[in-house]
Amino acid sequence: MSNLIWAKGATTAIDDRIMRFCAGEDVILDRHLFLYDIRASKAHALGLLNINILSQEEYDSILEGLEELTRSYEEGNFILDERYEDGHSAIEAFLIEKLGDAGKRIHTGRSRNDQVLVATRLFLKDTCQSAGEIARRIATVALDCAESTMMQPMPGYTHLQRAVPSSVGMWFAAIAESFIDDANLCQFTSSYIDSNPLGTAAGYGVNLPLDRKATTEALGFDRMQISPIYAQNSRGKFELQVIDTLSQLLLGVRRIAWDLSLYATGEFAFVDLPDAYTTGSSIMPNKRNPDVVELLRAAYSVVAGARAEIQSVLSLPSGYHRDLQNTKPPLIRAVNHALAALDLVPDLLANLTFDDDALRAAISDDMYATDVAVELAASGVPFREAYRQAAADTEMRSGRDPAESLQKRVSAGGAANPLLLELRDRLKKGSR
Ligand code: ARG
Repeated sequence: MSNLIWAKGATTAIDDRIMRFCAGEDVILDRHLFLYDIRASKAHALGLLNINILSQEEYDSILEGLEELTRSYEEGNFILDERYEDGHSAIEAFLIEKLGDAGKRIHTGRSRNDQVLVATRLFLKDTCQSAGEIARRIATVALDCAESTMMQPMPGYTHLQRAVPSSVGMWFAAIAESFIDDANLCQFTSSYIDSNPLGTAAGYGVNLPLDRKATTEALGFDRMQISPIYAQNSRGKFELQVIDTLSQLLLGVRRIAWDLSLYATGEFAFVDLPDAYTTGSSIMPNKRNPDVVELLRAAYSVVAGARAEIQSVLSLPSGYHRDLQNTKPPLIRAVNHALAALDLVPDLLANLTFDDDALRAAISDDMYATDVAVELAASGVPFREAYRQAAADTEMRSGRDPAESLQKRVSAGGAANPLLLELRDRLKKGSR
């Protein structure tokens, strides 16, 4: 690590061991934020041009420099590594080396404190966008599957005990509605965090009329984060909001994965997982293991762990503290893992094969007892009476067909009235 941007001359004592401890994996993690940091640097330069801190020529050359940096970073020629303290210093070092004095002006009115905030904010917004898109893809696949399987009988369980006949389509519809809600949550979270911290500097503003309106527009933020102190205090807080949002999606994934790992056992044998989603055993030639589904189930725990880590860092007074750097590893780990897991779900759902015979065989006569009780009640028998009759009279529930039971499930959301079009409509409205 050389050329520390904050070194004040020969007097600064720098101990490599201490520097390495402070930097940690920060500069490597900044690879995930680097392009956002460059984008924000362009916006900052524009703001400086607008208030005449940069001349037109200086601005043009900085912009060109930042574009060159973007290109060579994307092509793998510029490597962000331990030579730099962090991504922020790397950008400045690049500009100074290329442009000299113009490069030395880029940090006017900016602190790494608002620089890391704005890069992270852009990363978080993209995360919400990606998560929302995948949630919509999952909901779409689930709705398609629900349509074709709504009348395919499947046992419905409560307490994991056989309860009443249900359908494969009802299982898929539950997934669809959950991910429609989650897609909307992604949109909500995206608006919640859609404010621009750039220009708040170290957390107290600066003695320059920074054009924060212009940087807010240039970066596509919905609004300016006005209070510089709040901007600092929102570090970690906004990360948590995004992590919580991802957790909601992964709770849904965990539920799907749990169901599938159960339904794919020899004992249930309701469903065949797609080949690509299973693996073999290293010792047992007979095995096909649901490893992928199990790791999808475990994805929630990665995000929950990240949440705990960030939350415990946040026990801080107002303003910037270097502790906040430690919110970065769990954030990036959680986001990458969550998006990778979610991305596997649409194909998994689309390629499940349900076994009609096994599903029907698991629906035993006792499961019609509720149908019988409700039928009697509908014909005028007081329900408590009907309930007792249905319990005692095993004759009335024998020889029934699950498909017929499903045909009569006409209350909203039931197999005969699943309102899939309404769900499709919600999905469409949400994406506007
Ligand atoms: N790596 C630092 C972080 O993530 C960047 C900000 C450094 N600011 C400072 N005052 N040392 O927080």
